[in-house]
Amino acid sequence: MTTAVCPGSFDPFTLGHLDVVRRARSVVDDVVVAVARNASKSALLDAETRLEIVRDALSEAGLDDVRAALVPGLLVDFCTEIGATVVVKGLRGGADLDAELPMSHMNRHLAGVETVFVTADPALAHVSSSLVKDVARFDGPIDDLVPAGVGSVVRAALQSSKGA
Ligand code: PNS
Repeated sequence: MTTAVCPGSFDPFTLGHLDVVRRARSVVDDVVVAVARNASKSALLDAETRLEIVRDALSEAGLDDVRAALVPGLLVDFCTEIGATVVVKGLRGGADLDAELPMSHMNRHLAGVETVFVTADPALAHVSSSLVKDVARFDGPIDDLVPAGVGSVVRAALQSSKGA
């Protein structure tokens, strides 16, 4: 059986991410969502919170056979450890491809892990974790961009980061 990993920093997990996981699961029987660290971004939510959000969203979406885990280090080491041979990522447009191509080449170079891209639902093409945080930071509505309950977690984290 092929195991696929859907990795991301998921800060926070959005409806766009959920759509990519659904698409991955439609073509691969065993899918693991991997909550990882992107060294070029500083996260608003801690890793455990991001993982909990992913697990709740998967369960709410009925994706009960999709697992989720934290990636403590390199994504390819995690893939090797769980026997995953493919990474699935979503593409919203050219900017995503520019960012994803070097990572996919690096993961293949390091461990022979292939990356398969799925195209994002055009209805969700504007949804990114960064924009969700930006909108929330200025008190805009985000609840229709993220799974249930995530909006309040993001708002609370933004509030406490203001106080910090
Ligand atoms: O959602 P993102 O931020 O685009 O996801 C990028 C992520 C977290 C998948 C990537 O930064 C990653 O794989 N991080 C784990 C550490 C690692 O393997 N770095 C080398 C990537 S080629």
